[in-house]
Amino acid sequence: MIIAIDGPAAAGKGTLAKRLAIALNLPYLDTGLLYRATAKRVLEAGGDPTDVQAATAAARALSKADTSRADLRDAVTSKAASQVASIPAVREALLAFQREYGSANGAVLDGRDIGTVIFPHADVKLFVTASVEARAKRRQAEFIARGESVPLANVIADVAARDEADRTRAAAPLIPAEDAILIDTTTLNIEEAFLHAMQEIEKKLAASNS
Ligand code: C5P
Repeated sequence: MIIAIDGPAAAGKGTLAKRLAIALNLPYLDTGLLYRATAKRVLEAGGDPTDVQAATAAARALSKADTSRADLRDAVTSKAASQVASIPAVREALLAFQREYGSANGAVLDGRDIGTVIFPHADVKLFVTASVEARAKRRQAEFIARGESVPLANVIADVAARDEADRTRAAAPLIPAEDAILIDTTTLNIEEAFLHAMQEIEKKLAASNS
């Protein structure tokens, strides 16, 4: 079974996807880590994340250790991830890994193009959104938990800029698949979002089996 979860930055996809993976007994892949790790490799080599050759070579050379790093979520890496993600050859280099991961034992995958490009025939597609303010507040709370203090206005600007870049790029832009179920988490806590998503998944699976 493939559950595809797409949506903009900090919409709660990761938290929701992890909960769903446990409840459904499926492996979980955070595909954003692939782009973040690619960006980190480029940055650490002193390269430019918009350089097609450097970014593509980094994506092709990606290892498990790169994606397991604990320092992939800072603002600089987030912006660079969005930049490398707009390069078609980078996306191409990361595509097979994502498909193989999901095809081995089924999976819950979260990202931007899981339901549109990676698994267009996923059993269930969720598109998770929330207002930009709600998303920025959640991201800011994560920064504070890590001991970093960033003004909310800066986080709103970063999140909005990354969404705009992800939505307007030519390669696999962030758009809901036609058959995606929309979940707005603006006023939902984690538990409510999880319960709502489980209900929607059960409904969808029941409809597909009937
Ligand atoms: O999900 P996360 O915020 O960690 O993703 C970081 C960046 O990686 C996103 O802003 C987006 O540009 C890119 N990404 C993507 N496709 C995915 C997952 C992430 O383009 N499937």
